[in-house]
Amino acid sequence: MKQLDLLYQGKAKSVYRSDEQGTLIMRFRDDITAFDGEKKDVLGGKGGYNTEVSAFFFRYLEERGIKTHFLGMIDPITMAVRDLTMIPLEVIVRNVAAGSIVRRYPFTEGAPLDPPVIVIDYKDDSRHDPMLNDDLILALRLTTREELDQIKANALAINELLKDHLDARGIILVDFKMEFGRRDGTIHLGDEISMDSMRLWDKETRQSMDKDVYRFNKGDVMTEYAKVAKRIIS
Ligand code: ATP
Ligand code: TYD
Repeated sequence: MKQLDLLYQGKAKSVYRSDEQGTLIMRFRDDITAFDGEKKDVLGGKGGYNTEVSAFFFRYLEERGIKTHFLGMIDPITMAVRDLTMIPLEVIVRNVAAGSIVRRYPFTEGAPLDPPVIVIDYKDDSRHDPMLNDDLILALRLTTREELDQIKANALAINELLKDHLDARGIILVDFKMEFGRRDGTIHLGDEISMDSMRLWDKETRQSMDKDVYRFNKGDVMTEYAKVAKRIIS
């Protein structure tokens, strides 16, 4: 497959058109950002760990009946994906209270959330990704009622599958973010599932093994990403 022109240059990935109709090329860069882009760095090897974990989870989910954009690996930092019409929503599932939910609401950090809580933000950097609700999503015509129900059902199903896999490896899935898109009238999971988009705690020590290590200077980010990637794909 041939790589053609650059379509988007996001904060952590670059997406290119390809010479195959309906297929895009997605490259995971070593750029890392936090706090709305205020903190940024380039960490050698980060793109590779996130690609490896994302590809692993996309295959794992596809095998269990979830429709994703993943088509295959091109090289260790590049995958071929289905071109989706992305829906500008950040769909977050939370199993344990951490991050913004603790800052904004009276939850204690580390408190279990059972059943899991779905939070949906509007993906719009200029508005700092405000939180939405069903009525706002429908009023903004971001999805239909049916699509929104499908997105939520998919999000919860994906959560259960990821939680099972991680739990068996001694890892708590605290929360994670998904992006969905449309293709042939069906909702597909797009973007990435990686240490940048999940909050992962070690079950024994409750230490962070994800982007919080970078956000809050909790240790050597690449050492932690390498360790957790190995645990996830084993
Ligand atoms: P954020 O970091 O907040 O997710 P970003 O736009 O900077 O935002 P990147 O991950 O760097 O994020 O960029 C990847 C871009 O590609 C995103 O805009 C994402 O919505 C888009 N994208 C992901 N998967 C697909 C797909 N299968 N088809 C089309 N676009 C996609
Ligand atoms: P959240 O606690 O809302 O935000 P923050 O980490 O900035 O305090 O994040 C919940 C989860 O979703 C966390 O695992 C990080 C992930 N996430 C992203 O990957 N991208 C985003 O733009 C947002 C808002 C969250």
